[in-house]
Amino acid sequence: MIELKHITKIYGQGKEDLCVLEDVSLRIARGKFTVLLGPSGSGKSTLLNLIAMLDDPTSGQIFVDGKEITALKKEAARSKLRLTKMGFVFQFDGLLPEFSLLENVELPARMLGKSNPKKAQKLLERFGLGAMVHKLPADLSGGEKQRASIARALRNHPILLLADEPTGNLDAQRKLQVFEDFARMSREEGLTILMVTHDVHAADFADEVFILQERRLVKTK
Ligand SMILES: Nc1ncnc2c1ncn2[C@@H]1O[C@H](COP(=O)(O)OP(=O)(O)O)[C@@H](O)[C@H]1O
Ligand SMILES: [Mg+2]
Repeated sequence: MIELKHITKIYGQGKEDLCVLEDVSLRIARGKFTVLLGPSGSGKSTLLNLIAMLDDPTSGQIFVDGKEITALKKEAARSKLRLTKMGFVFQFDGLLPEFSLLENVELPARMLGKSNPKKAQKLLERFGLGAMVHKLPADLSGGEKQRASIARALRNHPILLLADEPTGNLDAQRKLQVFEDFARMSREEGLTILMVTHDVHAADFADEVFILQERRLVKTK
């Protein structure tokens, strides 16, 4: 489902270059729940951003669902692939402040011309937010916003879910719920999930665990 081949990422910083990933190769099979651990600043978000096509590697190739995404240069092609195949939960919830939760969750479907607010409602209910669908993000707690952003990521039935510290604002119980939910979605619905986290408990729920350190990936489960 995801394949990284010899990925190197060097950020140009004027005089000094910063090499964050060096010759990283990785293969994640369909329907696996994979967790990526690593110290702060080790390049975890960089790696997710490359798969999300939000940035380009310095060298190497990335394949998603058999397609070489590093060969896709046009933004239109990239955003179509993102919208139809991928769901994103980033460190910051990224909800649009002037829209209700329902509208936020419905947005990805509207962008595809496939609006059906009942589906957004169902998703929000599934994440315990059924009573708040008409509220604005500003009226919610950090945890509620984070759950809403998970609901939004699932709205277009992605085959790949990329999550960057999606449980950072959740209490311990909600955190475990998300990990359980992710494990179940990968097991029962065949969703491929790559989740970056600081929480070592996530490893218990994952099929595979990698640690990113000193520019390289090490498999620990
Ligand atoms: N756009 C950028 N330009 C330059 N340096 C960056 C950029 N994004 C991240 N970095 C640097 O790359 C390193 C890895 O960052 P990041 O991928 O965000 O790490 P993590 O998510 O593991 O905390 C850090 O040293 C960070 O400062
Ligand atoms: Mg990060």
